[in-house]
Amino acid sequence: MRLAMVFIYFALAWHSLPAHADTSKIVTEISGLEGRETLKIAFGSCISGQDQSIWSAILAERPDLMIFLGDNVYLGEAEFGNATAIYNRYKGQFSSPSVRRLLSSIPTFSIWSDHDFGPDNSDSSFAHSKASRDAFDRFWRSSKLPGTSPGLGIAHSIRIGELLILLTDDRTYRLNPASGRAGVLFGQEQLDWIQRQLSAPGLKAAVIASAGQILNGGRSGESASLFPAEREKVLDVLSMSPITPVILSGDKHYLQILERKHSGKRLLEFTSSPLTAWPAGKGARAEEPFSTATIYSQHNFGLLTIKLGSPVRYSIKFLDKNGGELLSRRY
Ligand SMILES: [Fe+2]
Repeated sequence: MRLAMVFIYFALAWHSLPAHADTSKIVTEISGLEGRETLKIAFGSCISGQDQSIWSAILAERPDLMIFLGDNVYLGEAEFGNATAIYNRYKGQFSSPSVRRLLSSIPTFSIWSDHDFGPDNSDSSFAHSKASRDAFDRFWRSSKLPGTSPGLGIAHSIRIGELLILLTDDRTYRLNPASGRAGVLFGQEQLDWIQRQLSAPGLKAAVIASAGQILNGGRSGESASLFPAEREKVLDVLSMSPITPVILSGDKHYLQILERKHSGKRLLEFTSSPLTAWPAGKGARAEEPFSTATIYSQHNFGLLTIKLGSPVRYSIKFLDKNGGELLSRRY
């Protein structure tokens, strides 16, 4: 019985692949999604380790697109400054048949975190970020993407009808706080861009993809809470925008739902991590005043379904590497 179910599961996952899929390509074409009333977005972060089963589980959910939220590779010191070595790292890491099927079947978009940019907790002072950027562009964005802008690092926007997706860059302009310095997270230019994008006419919903957590109220990890002054500005921009965006984030090596009010608006953040890297485990338990749910011990991915009606409805599910449901909520 069990074997039969496993067979059906993989048959379904395989069946969702177009027969002509070229698994050497990363698809970024979204024009087929325009005009859809319901969109399903898969997301996750932190990739390292041998177990490749999660990719088939993601594909079996038939998402319309996927967002990789950073730490998509964990670069080693020997690779810093060597764009070819970094590109080869990407190619090696994303070479299993199951992840190639995913990348070639649905549009995928990516941002970076510290480990695909440089050293642990790295910021704009890292001297070799150009090589990291070259490899990132070559691997993730070899096809032309709409919504990119030269002054915004890897940040870019995707518009799908009434839905806006903003993929942010919290590394290129980052200046970690130091004594006598408040630090910079996204930088003013990117904040202004986010504000302008969220005011575009004809929008019903928006998603902000951020490598690090934004709503986090503790001071763990690399969350925006390390930059209290700039985070206030971010929360102002999000809560005062005509549409209130939902935040997707990663980085933490656990999954979490965060909810907090700012300027009278309810803000929601869904954090999914890790895809295949090590889960944080129970030892990571941290005081997090805005968390409404946390799971510390599982490889996982998120699935956000957005129904663009009036009002807009969100459904969030977190699934494990075998497609088993870990948590779900509706808003
Ligand atoms: Fe990570």
